[in-house]
Amino acid sequence: MKLVKVKSHEEMSVFAANYILDKVKSNSQVNLGLATGGTPVRTYELLVDDYRRNSTYYQNVYTYNLDEYVGIPIDHPNSYHAFMFEHLFNHINIPEKNIHIPNGLSEDIYEEAHNYETIIDGIGGVDLQLLGIGENGHIGFNEPGTPFDRETHIVTLTESTRKANSRYFESLDHVPERAITMGIASILKSRGILLLASGESKAEAISQMFTGKSSIDCPASVLKYHPNVVVVADEQAVSKLKAAMILSHS
Ligand code: PGA
Repeated sequence: MKLVKVKSHEEMSVFAANYILDKVKSNSQVNLGLATGGTPVRTYELLVDDYRRNSTYYQNVYTYNLDEYVGIPIDHPNSYHAFMFEHLFNHINIPEKNIHIPNGLSEDIYEEAHNYETIIDGIGGVDLQLLGIGENGHIGFNEPGTPFDRETHIVTLTESTRKANSRYFESLDHVPERAITMGIASILKSRGILLLASGESKAEAISQMFTGKSSIDCPASVLKYHPNVVVVADEQAVSKLKAAMILSHS
């Protein structure tokens, strides 16, 4: 894993947007794995800014989101569908048929999970997967304890994840209890991974990921097994990492 230490959330977002744009501009057909959450919002804003200035071509970009809540309509303001359209898809010229997000309202969510994995397998894994990281080290909605060989599946969200996400909902009671998420094995199928971390609340997870043994207790630690991972973290997010560790991964 390569670590890119940056000063701020803004610097992290600029790095990430440029990294993604490199892929989009250098590959006539690129499969991007995308993430939701507070962390990538500014990155998406920068992609939209770039699109407005440069008319970057997204007709041949295909996207695959990591996850979606189970049981809330796609037009619910807190669905991940709504998030992606609000922050990115409504503002660039990507054809709707190129966009893939798990359907958390499917009549058979288990079949939906299976079909989603089949789509990922069909493209041989995404070219670049964008990831955030949970305070507990989760990636996608793969909470601690998730076996590393899980593919897309249905997950019961932990209390800490529901609490962290309740800031977007009226109250904790309104946060869905389940989600459909790419599994760790699905994520590992990506050819490249770009993980973003910003803020002190991620410092423990980042420290675990770099210094601890790879363990299901910190799902992000599985990324040690992947040959092409770039972690972009700001000063607060690396505040629990020793200088030597930062240097050795830079
Ligand atoms: P955040 O979430 O970007 O809102 O901090 C990240 C995650 O839970 O993966």
